Amino acid sequence: MTVVLGIETSCDETAAAVVADGTEVRSNVVASQIDLHAKYGGVVPEIASRAHIERLDAIIEEAMGVAEATRDGIGAIAVTNRPGLVGALLIGVTAAKTLSWAWKKPLVAVDHIRAHAYSPAIGLDHAPWPAVGLIVSGGHTSLFRIESPVSIEVLGATTDDAAGEAFDKVATILGLGYPGGPSIERAARGGDPSAVQFPRTMLGRDSLDFSFSGIKTAVLYHVHGHGQTSGGLERLTQQGIADIAASFQQAVIDVLVKKAMLAVAQTGLTTVVLGGGVAANRPFREQLAAACEDRDLRFHAAPMAYCTDNAAMIAALGYHLFRAGELADLSLDVRATGRG
Ligand code: KG4
Ligand code: ZN
Repeated sequence: MTVVLGIETSCDETAAAVVADGTEVRSNVVASQIDLHAKYGGVVPEIASRAHIERLDAIIEEAMGVAEATRDGIGAIAVTNRPGLVGALLIGVTAAKTLSWAWKKPLVAVDHIRAHAYSPAIGLDHAPWPAVGLIVSGGHTSLFRIESPVSIEVLGATTDDAAGEAFDKVATILGLGYPGGPSIERAARGGDPSAVQFPRTMLGRDSLDFSFSGIKTAVLYHVHGHGQTSGGLERLTQQGIADIAASFQQAVIDVLVKKAMLAVAQTGLTTVVLGGGVAANRPFREQLAAACEDRDLRFHAAPMAYCTDNAAMIAALGYHLFRAGELADLSLDVRATGRG
């Protein structure tokens, strides 16, 4: 059994986790910074970095404590080094390098998006691969062909905004709370998803790429009037806002489900896995599950706790990279962009 300590600081969650053999989560500690960034309506990079510095040591200690892990029992240290906010990533990578050096443990560098792609496998008693992976987060919207945890190929990605980013921006337009995904999901519960026909941008019949900037602008103009960017929100009723939220959410879900099914058709794979922060959206999970059921496909959504950013997925994928001999060393650097 190999126990991996995972560290995640790519954006606004400070997280550490201890996972055995890539699947058995012994601890998963996440300190969200939502309260620090909420009043700015989005993540402020300098504030995120500072909060990571202040919190990370205690979070790692807590993760080790909850798991009842000792440093001798740790087989490797895995850390997110890409993609993300450079200043934020540096805090986690520096902590991981320090522990790797002090504890004399192998260091593993993990791509955050690939860890999201692996996250639906956490806790399963069998490997779900090969599979089409749909990863929908605040920074990325990607389709992958996942042959194994260490063999992941990008089939398509967003050409502009990520789906989660669109949720966050539309929530701001509608005067709903930050982060936007959960507040849109809440508002949409009382709304009619067919009230407004927002565009479903497909980028061509066979394309597995995504674009969500058009729908964001469509919502903006729907609220304020064509070409206008302010003044319209006051005219909307609660019901009007709920209808827009539900219609927006449905348009995004339609595109995501359709593209996932297109990826299935193009690859011939029979399993679909779903991960990333937007995968926490219940109507989305349910509709993708239903589409898979209709076609006799196996479907695994990441457990709720591993949808939004966490270090369990970093430790879990880190285990497989470690086993594959993909080790980093103290020269490890961070990168703003990833491969997916
Ligand atoms: O994966 P994640 O925690 O961070 C990134 O790697 O980006 O994803 C965060 C994104 C945010 O845009 C947030 O609004 C969205 O996931 N999100 C949701 C829901 N919960 C979080 N979007 C839709 N519905 C939700 N329930
Ligand atoms: Zn993420």
